[in-house]
Amino acid sequence: MELDKRHIVLGVTGGIAAYKAAELVRELQRAGATVQVVMTRAATHFVTPVTFQALSSRPVFVDQWDERVANNMAHIELSRAADAILIAPASADFIGKLANGLADDLLGTLCVARECPLLVAPAMNRQMWTNPAVQRNAAQLRADGVTLFGPDSGDQACGETGPGRMLEPAAIVEELVAFFAPPLLAGRRVVITAGPTYEPIDPVRGITNRSSGKMGFALARACRHAGAEVQLVAGPTALDTPAGVTRIDVQTAREMCAAVLAACAGHCDLFIAVAAVADWQVTNASARKIKKDEVGTTPELAFAENPDILQTVAALPGAPYCVGFAAESEDLARNGESKRRRKGVPLLVANIGHETFGRDDNELLLIDEQGIKPIGRASKDELARVLVAEIAGRLGKPAAGDTP
Ligand code: C5P
Repeated sequence: MELDKRHIVLGVTGGIAAYKAAELVRELQRAGATVQVVMTRAATHFVTPVTFQALSSRPVFVDQWDERVANNMAHIELSRAADAILIAPASADFIGKLANGLADDLLGTLCVARECPLLVAPAMNRQMWTNPAVQRNAAQLRADGVTLFGPDSGDQACGETGPGRMLEPAAIVEELVAFFAPPLLAGRRVVITAGPTYEPIDPVRGITNRSSGKMGFALARACRHAGAEVQLVAGPTALDTPAGVTRIDVQTAREMCAAVLAACAGHCDLFIAVAAVADWQVTNASARKIKKDEVGTTPELAFAENPDILQTVAALPGAPYCVGFAAESEDLARNGESKRRRKGVPLLVANIGHETFGRDDNELLLIDEQGIKPIGRASKDELARVLVAEIAGRLGKPAAGDTP
């Protein structure tokens, strides 16, 4: 899991978003982290320490003078093993305290005495967040090397709408995963296709390919975590857009091709074609629904070949590094290599096994001019991380003037 072996000290301060910190503990644990909760006195007015103790299976600390810590140095002991201190929610008051290095309670002292990174997820009403003093304090934190997650904009507990909302727990975990991920694609621009395409026969019928889009979406997420700017051109899927990724929804192969070429225009370092693109489009598609009784006989469909998006991008002048995917049913290595050459791409990723559609795991074979490298069965998220590292190694360092 992405936060395996990570130990996080979660600081909860006094704001209504403290109720979301309970869910955040669960999300952090689901991602593999262990969590030690430390609360300010004000936070205990919103949620009790018992809630966090039950969720984290660890005693919760509030008081600087807690006698449970043998050497009475909770401010040192608690963060000693931590990979990061995460303050969520961070109130305006606590941000002010951090910006000034104040240490008048346990959580404040922990932050001042820390050796690990400090991550802060602000949560407050929009007037408080836009207050110049709070903005000044937030800017001071950034200048001090503290990372701010959010805040988001939207509905607020006070009934207003605007900036200051704490990021949702899942989004905070995404930020945390990205924070810890090696920045292998920092400054790179990446375009990815994912999912199936849909070729209409009439307004209610069409031809599509079997593809859940999970591998392409996992790759978009992993590239983002590695620091890339990611544009994801997606055929019809029900998947959520990974945080920080720009998504362009398309239906047909021609739309996908146009969207990819537009996304690659300007500058693109890496193109990963994961989409299961329909090979043919229906040239005699009907603008209105074909009625079964009107046709009399079975309708005849006429087809034309769709553009090969991968091959088109690989042939562009100054083409990005191109990665193709292949779902071969037999003689994977030989067919994969001939497909790689035919498409004119340096790297082809072949799916091993036939039943990979819609599953959360897979097994891959990397085929490049050096030969073949298997990647054993793993979750699509894990495979995406491995692939990003493999691709980043092949991309090498950005040339001078390459990064935007
Ligand atoms: O030829 P085949 O469909 O097996 O090739 C698969 C690879 O080519 C995948 O990377 C797929 O996304 C890409 N492709 C494409 N445009 C097409 C057909 C396939 O980009 N029209």
